[in-house]
Amino acid sequence: MTVRLRYLLLLASTMLLFTGCQLRGKPAPGPEVPRPDSIQDFTVLYGQNCAGCHGVDGKNGAAMNLSDPVYLAIVDDDTLRATISKGRPGTAMSAFAQKEGGMLTAQQINSIIAGMRQHWSKPDALAGTTAPPYAAKAAGNPQQGQAAYGTFCASCHGTDGKGGPKAGSVTNPFYLNLISNQGLRTIVIAGRPDFDAPDWRNNVPGRPMTEQEISDVVAWLAAQRPQKAGVVAAANAPASGGVH
Ligand code: HEC
Ligand code: HEC
Repeated sequence: MTVRLRYLLLLASTMLLFTGCQLRGKPAPGPEVPRPDSIQDFTVLYGQNCAGCHGVDGKNGAAMNLSDPVYLAIVDDDTLRATISKGRPGTAMSAFAQKEGGMLTAQQINSIIAGMRQHWSKPDALAGTTAPPYAAKAAGNPQQGQAAYGTFCASCHGTDGKGGPKAGSVTNPFYLNLISNQGLRTIVIAGRPDFDAPDWRNNVPGRPMTEQEISDVVAWLAAQRPQKAGVVAAANAPASGGVH
């Protein structure tokens, strides 16, 4: 099953799950159950709140490979905090901070970030290379992006993006409707090592993508997204953590 099919199934099932939780309400904490607010253990917090989508140990889930040391080397703590606290509007990444309507305290979110760094970061992740900026500095050019797609992606995802010998479609409208431009950019830069999808250095061995090529290919992918009213609204909404 491709990552994208897993993604769609996961999103459908988690929506049901969340509805179910709301109907049941919060269980009354007994004396032996620690108050949910007091849990600070990374493994417990991550397992209860994140593993369902991002996978056990931060890999092989439908959503981003959070335990990828390359990913952790390109993303800073402020971005992690903003994303986890406020979520990503228009995607399944919901807001986790209590003040944004979620279940976690600011301290618990800090514990998750510290735990991700402690368990999954590696000092030599970039092996001496300079990573492209996490967030785009300017919008890319979709025409140039189509050419960049041909150079860097078509060998695996097919000439038109509808799937090829080594990987599935990247233009599936349902997939594109559920992922933000930053989400696409994150994958273009960091890849999905858990599914053997290369990072920006290794699509064409010896030819890392430039910052411009990354922005352009994301612009081309975004241009394949069906223009539905709701999606346009989400894309134009104030940026969450400045990264949407
Ligand atoms: C060497 C082969 C290869 C190249 C080159 C490649 N990919 Fe992939 N890509 C994969 C594999 C393998 C997967 C995971 C299996 C799948 O989803 O089909 C994947 C997955 C993806 C996903 C889905 C990830 C997710 O979490 O849902 C996106 C988006 C993607 N690639 C975009 C790109 C773009 C854009 C390029 C060019 C810049 C590119 N890929 C280049 C092999 C490749
Ligand atoms: C219901 C599924 C779901 C759950 C639960 C979930 N996430 Fe996510 N998460 C996503 C999706 C989908 C995205 C991609 C959003 C996008 O398109 O930008 C994402 C994106 C992210 C990103 C940003 C990746 C990037 O682009 O840099 C971080 C960080 C993250 N999640 C952390 C967490 C943490 C930590 C938890 C638990 C507290 C969590 N997520 C729980 C689905 C989920």
